[in-house]
Amino acid sequence: MYFSMSDLDGPHRNKLLHSTVVPRPIAWISSLDATGSVNVAPFSFFNLMSGDPPLLAVCIGSRAGVLKDTGRNIAARGEFVVNLVSMAQLKQMNVTAIDFDEDVDEANEAGLELLAGHAVSVPRIAGSPASLECRNRTLIDIDGRRTLVIADIVGMHLIDAAVLDAKNLYVDPEPMDLVARLHNPGWYCRIENPFRLTTPTVEEWNALKQTGEAQTFLGK
Ligand SMILES: Cc1cc2nc3c(=O)[nH]c(=O)nc-3n(C[C@H](O)[C@H](O)[C@H](O)COP(=O)(O)O)c2cc1C
Repeated sequence: MYFSMSDLDGPHRNKLLHSTVVPRPIAWISSLDATGSVNVAPFSFFNLMSGDPPLLAVCIGSRAGVLKDTGRNIAARGEFVVNLVSMAQLKQMNVTAIDFDEDVDEANEAGLELLAGHAVSVPRIAGSPASLECRNRTLIDIDGRRTLVIADIVGMHLIDAAVLDAKNLYVDPEPMDLVARLHNPGWYCRIENPFRLTTPTVEEWNALKQTGEAQTFLGK
């Protein structure tokens, strides 16, 4: 079935794409407003864009025509923390997604403990398996209703259990038990059946073709 985006209205485009491009990692963003009050909220229009330079992107929408608190805080301060979400913190993350008024402290509502940042002035969420300290690089106003944030990752806290070898930077994602976003209403998933697939070099691929093993390699 083919779907032309121009034949769909806004909510239906969003519904279709939100349900199809899955799973999406969740950026559980802690930020500070201009007066220093903490804000916490989850965002799944998010991903790592580059490892070197270390860059991530997140798209933040608006509420009643005004950019969500997280977006305004990032614009005001230039710093924020992306905390990744483990299964153990799923319910707390969900509470921080409630559309509270801007003066409500979501961290307090969800019973979160906050820890001081290392290279940024914004606190991170205790218990998050990984917290990426970020500095805003570019804010792109998409259409007056959503803002794309492209940020430099300046440092990362990672739980010791996930660090297999700190010298060689071998990380095992399993102990992080991360949760990812599926479709609405409220579907999520975990990494439950990881498998390994390495990409052959050109030489290895040509050798597979020469020996007639390419079809087997393709699973045919
Ligand atoms: C798992 C999850 C992912 C979300 N992803 C986004 C997103 O990518 N963009 C967005 O604008 N809102 C997203 N939301 C909704 C915001 O978290 C919600 O509107 C929140 O109240 C915004 O808080 P703030 O105004 O304090 O920034 C998501 C909610 C959940 C539960």
